[in-house]
Amino acid sequence: MPRQFFVGGNFKMNPNSVAEKRALTTLLNQADLDSSVEVVVAPPALYLLPLKELIRKEIQVAAQNCYFKESGAFTGEISPLQLKDAGIPYVILGHSERRTLFHETSEVVAQKTKAALAASLSVILCIGETLEQRETNQTTKVCSEQLQAAVDLLKEADWSKIVIAYEPVWAIGTGKVATSKQAQDTHADIRTFIASAVSPAVAQATRIIYGGSVNKGNCKELSTQPDVDGFLVGGASLKPEFVDIINATQ
Ligand code: G3P
Repeated sequence: MPRQFFVGGNFKMNPNSVAEKRALTTLLNQADLDSSVEVVVAPPALYLLPLKELIRKEIQVAAQNCYFKESGAFTGEISPLQLKDAGIPYVILGHSERRTLFHETSEVVAQKTKAALAASLSVILCIGETLEQRETNQTTKVCSEQLQAAVDLLKEADWSKIVIAYEPVWAIGTGKVATSKQAQDTHADIRTFIASAVSPAVAQATRIIYGGSVNKGNCKELSTQPDVDGFLVGGASLKPEFVDIINATQ
């Protein structure tokens, strides 16, 4: 079965006002979007519920993070159960900004992934190497190790609710996009890893999306690569060109 193309917009800690959020919502609500694409937008936690109410129903809403406990004394955190209760179907986990700035290890990301799946959420699981790691030929090793932590905690069936986002750290917010060959080669390596660590069937079915300086100028070529099943978009998801990225395969 062909994998459904997936485009996520990670708004990160943007926009800065309710008015900007409304403008973005209006843009997406009025746009002509490819209906064969699964589209998810991830606003800051504060805007999850209002955005869910305002945005067209074909677009799903994702949290940018959650904790792995159900409830309790964890100031500042949101639990997977709370997201589920609020009707939020997706959560982004393991983004490089969380790994770097908030010191989340692959083991913590795996625990969060397990907890999110237990609450029936779907997970966009982010992995990716630094520039130094790429330049020393460690890309496959780093991506495999980041995924192995999740493999260790999850059952085979869990993977049907995971989208893997390959986001090379050196491409995030830098304007330096991976070439389509770099993206394709790494996605193929990730798929090979999943085939041996989980199963060939899971590897075949799992969407592996690319993130890192995707824009309307580079999305079409990237989308033609056989193992690129979509995008996780940062900066460009806040602009009208997000529509062009959603429609990249048209
Ligand atoms: O999660 C999306 C991301 O980190 C890529 O950001 O701004 O390079 O598209 P950007």
